[in-house]
Amino acid sequence: MASIVNSLRLIADETRLRLLLLLSQTEELSVVEVQEILGMGQSRISSHLAQLRRAGLVQDRRAGKNIYYALTDDAALAQLRPIIEASAKELPEAAHDRVALKVAVQKRNDRAREYFNQLAGKFGRAYCPGRSWTGVAHLLFALVPEIVVADLGAGEGTLSQLLAKRAKKVIAVDNSEKMVEFGSDLAKKHGFKNLEYRLGNLEAPPIPAGSVDLALLSQALHHAEHPALAVAAAYRILKKGGRVAILDLVQHQFEEARELYADRWLGFSEPGLRRFLEDAGFRDVE
Ligand SMILES: C[S@@+](CC[C@H](N)C(=O)[O-])C[C@H]1O[C@@H](n2cnc3c(N)ncnc32)[C@H](O)[C@@H]1O
Repeated sequence: MASIVNSLRLIADETRLRLLLLLSQTEELSVVEVQEILGMGQSRISSHLAQLRRAGLVQDRRAGKNIYYALTDDAALAQLRPIIEASAKELPEAAHDRVALKVAVQKRNDRAREYFNQLAGKFGRAYCPGRSWTGVAHLLFALVPEIVVADLGAGEGTLSQLLAKRAKKVIAVDNSEKMVEFGSDLAKKHGFKNLEYRLGNLEAPPIPAGSVDLALLSQALHHAEHPALAVAAAYRILKKGGRVAILDLVQHQFEEARELYADRWLGFSEPGLRRFLEDAGFRDVE
C-alpha cells in the first residue's frame, strides 16, 4: 500500500493533482494525450507521472511507441480519491481539463473509426473473419442448439466432440472398428456423456428412422460405395423438418486420391449432389 503521507505530499502539487483527476475520469491516457490536454511539455509531464508511479499511485503500460498511464487500485489511493475529486472545485483548470479530456477521447475513437473506414471494402477474399477459420468454426459450434445429431463417417470424432459441447446428443457412426474404438476412448477421456459411437455403415446407419435433427456427412460421402443410398439413409433417420449438412469435395481429377486416401469417388458435381438430395426427398437444397 502506498504511503498516505507521501501521497498527500505528492498531490499537494497542482500538476500532479490535475493528472490524478484526469486519470480518475478515464481508464487510461497516453503521455501524448496528457500533453494535449494539459498543454505542457512532455518532459515535465513524464517527470510528474514518474513520481506518481514510484509512489504506487499510477501504473504504466507500453504499447508500441506510446506509454499509457492509469490509476492503480492501491488502497491508499482509494482513500484519497474523494479528496482528489473534491479538490476539482478549487482548481481553476479542472473544468478546462474535463472538456479537453472529452476531446482527446473523442479523437482516439475517431482514429479507430478512421482506421476501419479506410479498410472498408479492402478486406477482400483473403480476409478471414475473426482472424482464423478455426476460430470462426469454434464460435459457430458454440451456437449449436440442443438437438440430436448424427455424424456419419465421423472418423476420430473431431466434429462430433465440438457438436457434443452444446447438442443434446451426438451419435457418431463409422465403419472402421479402430476409429470407433479411438473415438469412443477420446469421448470418454474428455467426459462427453452425450456422445455415443456406433459401428456401422453410413449407407444403413444403426440409428432409428425419424430420430435425429441433423445428419452430418463431412468428407465421408466420397467414401460411400453408393452415395445416393447414404443420402437416402440420412433422410430416413431425420425427424420431420430435420436437415442434412454435407461437406465434400467438388468433382476433381486427382486419380491418386483413390490410392492415397481410399476415396471411392473423386468428389461430386453440384448438380449430381443435388440430384441425390432431391431423389432422397430433401427440399430447399442449398
Ligand atoms: C475423411 S474421414 C472424415 C472424418 C470426419 N467426418 C471429418 O470430417 O473430419 C472419413 C471417415 O469415413 C469413414 N467411412 C468410410 N466409409 C464409410 C462407410 N461406408 N460407412 C461409415 N463410415 C465410413 C472412414 O472410416 C473415415 O473415418
